[in-house]
Order: sequence, then C-alpha cells, then structure tokens
Amino acid sequence: MTEGTLIEVEDLHVRFDLFEGVSHVLNGVGITIRNGERIGLVGESGCGKSLLARCILGLLEQKNIRIDGAIRYHGRDLFAMRGSEWRDLRGRRITMIFQDPTAALNPVFTVADQMVEVIQRGGNRKRKREECLDIARGALRRVFIDDPDRVLRSYPFQLSGGMAQRVIITMALANDPELVLADEPGTSLDVTVQEQTLRLMATLTQEAGAAVLLIAHNLGVVREFCERLYVMYGGVIVEEGSVEEIFNEPLHPYTQALFGAVPRLWGGDLPKAIAGMVPDYTQAPEGCRFHPRCPHAKPECQSTPPWVKLGEGRGVRCVLFEGAERSTVHA
Ligand SMILES: Nc1ncnc2c1ncn2[C@@H]1O[C@H](COP(=O)(O)OP(=O)(O)O)[C@@H](O)[C@H]1O
Ligand code: SF4
Ligand SMILES: [Mg+2]
Repeated sequence: MTEGTLIEVEDLHVRFDLFEGVSHVLNGVGITIRNGERIGLVGESGCGKSLLARCILGLLEQKNIRIDGAIRYHGRDLFAMRGSEWRDLRGRRITMIFQDPTAALNPVFTVADQMVEVIQRGGNRKRKREECLDIARGALRRVFIDDPDRVLRSYPFQLSGGMAQRVIITMALANDPELVLADEPGTSLDVTVQEQTLRLMATLTQEAGAAVLLIAHNLGVVREFCERLYVMYGGVIVEEGSVEEIFNEPLHPYTQALFGAVPRLWGGDLPKAIAGMVPDYTQAPEGCRFHPRCPHAKPECQSTPPWVKLGEGRGVRCVLFEGAERSTVHA
C-alpha cells in the first residue's frame, strides 16, 4: 500500500445466485482512492457502479451474494471488520449520497430527529439534543438554508427535492468523513437543482478535505469536479487515468464510444449511440466483456485481456495496447 492510500479494492468479484443462474457482475475490479482525492466512476447504466459503491460501504447483506477479493481501508481488511470498528466506519468515516434524496430520508421522522441521530453517531452518544441541533443549524446554514429551524421541524415529504438533497449532503458531511460515495446525486431532480447541489457538494467536500467517489452520467460535471477517472464496463474497470488524460485521449474502445455518445451542445458530429447492450451477467461474454459491441474485436478478445499499465495511475484493459505497457502490474 502506498502512503496516503485510503481505499484499495483488489480483484473484487461479486456474484449473485439467481433463479436464472449465477449472475457474475463485478469481475475482478481494482481501484485505489487516496486521501482527499476526487475520483469519477463512469459507465452506462447496469455496469456495476452502484454495486461497487455499496460493496465499499458494506451495504450487501443478502444471502444469495458471494464476494471474493479484498477491500482495504487504510490497509485494513474491510470485510474482517466487526462491532464498533465497523459501525465507526460505515456511515461515519465513509458515507454515501444516493440518487433520490427523498428516499434516502426516513419518512416518519423529522429532519431534526434524523440529524441529531447522525451527529450523535458521529461522536458522543451523550451529546445533548440541543447541542446537536445547534451543530445541525450551523451545518444547514453552510448549504445556504436560511431558515434552518423550519427545515429541522419538517418531515421529508415537506421538503422540495433540492432542499432534501441539501439535507442529505449536510448529513453525509456532518461527521467529517474521509470518503463520500456520491452515487448520481440528484439525478432525480431537475437539471438546474442538480447542478447546484453537485457544485455545493464539490465545494463542501473540498473544504472538508474528504475524498469523493463520484458516480455521474454528466461527463461535464465529472470533468469539472474530478481529478482521476475509472471507466467501468460490464463489471470490469476498462480504463484508468487522470481526467485530463482520459478526456484528451480516451484509449479503450468503450471509453471512446461512451464519450462519443455524449450529446455535443456545441454542434459538430451527431453523437453515436453505442450499439448493443450491457451484458446479461448470467451469461456474460467470455474474454473481453465488450467484445460483442466492439468495432475492433478480434479472435484473441475472447480471452481475458490483460491490464496494461501505461504509467502511474494510467492503464487500460484491451488487447490493442498489449506491448505498450511500461510494466504489467495488474490493477
Ligand atoms: N442485490 C442485487 N441482486 C442481484 N443483482 C444485482 C443486485 N444489485 C445489483 N445487481 C445487478 O448488478 C448489475 C449492476 O447494477 P448497478 O451496480 O446498479 O449498475 P449501475 O449503478 O452501473 O447502473 C445489474 O445487472 C443489477 O441487476
Ligand atoms: S479487448 Fe478486444 S473487444 Fe475488448 S475492447 Fe479491446 S479490441 Fe475491443
Ligand atoms: Mg447506479
């Protein structure tokens, strides 16, 4: 583990036993997040982005799941953590902002009740309610809520989507987390509110020095907010690089297709939709999972392509780059 590494996901496999067969979704995922880093995770719907985030947060406690590989937090095995260590991590050191803010709040409790619970969880259980409410008021003002008492008295259904998202961001940041997993925050809100809340999240996490794993469809936001990117296809990381590297020169045929599929507001070529679909994970293609859709596919793509490391923090999983590596360390 290099110094400053916060999270290391290594060769992570996630399989579900389903009626139709074994659904092998995550297939050897490896990512690294360093302290304070802002990482983007992009890929079409169904590629396994949320599943990866939920693994990091430990939100997968169903019977039909099998997880292999490792997730390390400051070098410690996350799957081996129990009791208070585990509770301290989950929802405090690592928090998550979900797509739908109203669904993320408990409908039967007021915002005040929920914020007090979060603030108490973050530190002293014995902290008085009034003291927690003072902290909550201050935190809500930081997300430009002028009348925090009105929001605190409200039940989630009484808040607008944008307001609920601000409450969620406040709660996610209340206990100085080291990592915020932001899974398409605000996609259920209208575009302007979504942009506002994303910007707010960006500013606040930067101020707090928290690392962020941002899952987002909006590549413009990713470009603005993130430093490094992972591109995921079919449960596999297919490319890694700095935002600059990937936007200037996407290497993997999937990244090229994905970026080509972004509507270009300034005109030029019409976006080309990526033909075909994300695989059915009960019958995922052998070898490179992208091969049924790849314009460059060749017979050798039916075997698993190697991870080709092209530099520090730069790599691609594709046979086209074999031989171009600086060293063939697997991601
Ligand atoms: N709890 C689960 N049980 C079975 N399959 C799941 C579960 N969670 C996710 N999946 C499957 O994993 C795949 C990836 O899902 P997801 O991580 O939500 O994709 P993304 O966030 O990239 O859109 C989907 O095919 C989904 O059906
Ligand atoms: S390994 Fe083959 S199928 Fe996969 S992206 Fe590269 S060229 Fe295309
Ligand atoms: Mg998702």
